[in-house]
Amino acid sequence: MQLPSDLQQAVTNVSELWTDRMMPGTAREVSDRYRDKRRHGDDVMVHSDADVAAYAATRMPGTYAALRACMTHAHGVMPSWHPESMLDAGAGPGTGIWAATQVWPSLRNCCQLERVEGMIRIGRELGVHAEHPAVRNAVWQETDLRSDWQAEPADLVAASYVINELGEAEGLLLAERLWKMTKGVLILIEPGTPAGWTRILRLRDHLLSTGAEMVAPCPHSRPCPVEAPDWCHFSERVNRSRLHRRLKEAELAHEDEKFSYAAFSRLQVQPCDARIRRHPMIYSGYLRLSLCTGDGLREETVARSRKEAYRAARDARIGDAWPADA
Ligand SMILES: C[S@@+](CC[C@H](N)C(=O)[O-])C[C@H]1O[C@@H](n2cnc3c(N)ncnc32)[C@H](O)[C@@H]1O
Repeated sequence: MQLPSDLQQAVTNVSELWTDRMMPGTAREVSDRYRDKRRHGDDVMVHSDADVAAYAATRMPGTYAALRACMTHAHGVMPSWHPESMLDAGAGPGTGIWAATQVWPSLRNCCQLERVEGMIRIGRELGVHAEHPAVRNAVWQETDLRSDWQAEPADLVAASYVINELGEAEGLLLAERLWKMTKGVLILIEPGTPAGWTRILRLRDHLLSTGAEMVAPCPHSRPCPVEAPDWCHFSERVNRSRLHRRLKEAELAHEDEKFSYAAFSRLQVQPCDARIRRHPMIYSGYLRLSLCTGDGLREETVARSRKEAYRAARDARIGDAWPADA
């Protein structure tokens, strides 16, 4: 996955303004703070404009890839749904609307709730370079999600990589509140760690108990069949730009962004039959798919002799619906 060219250019332009202050240490400190916020003893992860620019250059490609993948899965389940409005809670530099407009060009407006002024500033600067008017014209609202905030309900509501920055009770309250603001689809995304998945699972159980319909990734609304120490997560490979590599002091030209998520709808949904949980394992003459289905977890062997199915399975990626539409 690569950022769309207008977003990549925007990130490069904005980051170059901060290049001399954004030494590799800045990106590392921001990552460290995200990895272990308790050790750093405060709940605001990005402080200076250099921190925010480092976030945009090093974390935004990964969170963009996760958002876009989840939205693509939801679109696959609801192909005739075309949202016009979006609400993004904890929008950061606006990653959500950049991803959403790639999947749903029908979007016309977006309200971004964010508490860090520097994020809002950089989000606005990035947005100026966007081709899609919904990104350019997004409305930013400086908001603490733990306060009594107000916003208009929206067709598409998202909270990505933000609930883990709140306490457990606050996260649940936020999810409930966002669900009330959702006219179409709510997407919650967390890091693809056992802790991130546990958080998603708790919110899933809660929202399903209030009548939400599961859109993705689960092909059912029953209790999750995955048992610890396994956990449900997906992964997207992200190409690293030169700036990204320099700031992360990274050798590899790519990184794998792991995420757990759940998407819910108020509309009636026909979920997919099954979803691919791991990268297909290819053997001589056949391959194996690890699936989550309406009847639980299952392994499926696809022989090379089933030409069309084999080709579809070989090209399938983790998170894709199965059988493939093809
Ligand atoms: C890891 S970033 C994710 C940003 C964006 N959603 C993305 O996926 O790239 C989390 C964002 O949530 C914001 N945030 C955390 N707690 C918040 C709160 N209580 N109110 C509003 N925003 C908050 C942070 O300032 C940060 O911009």
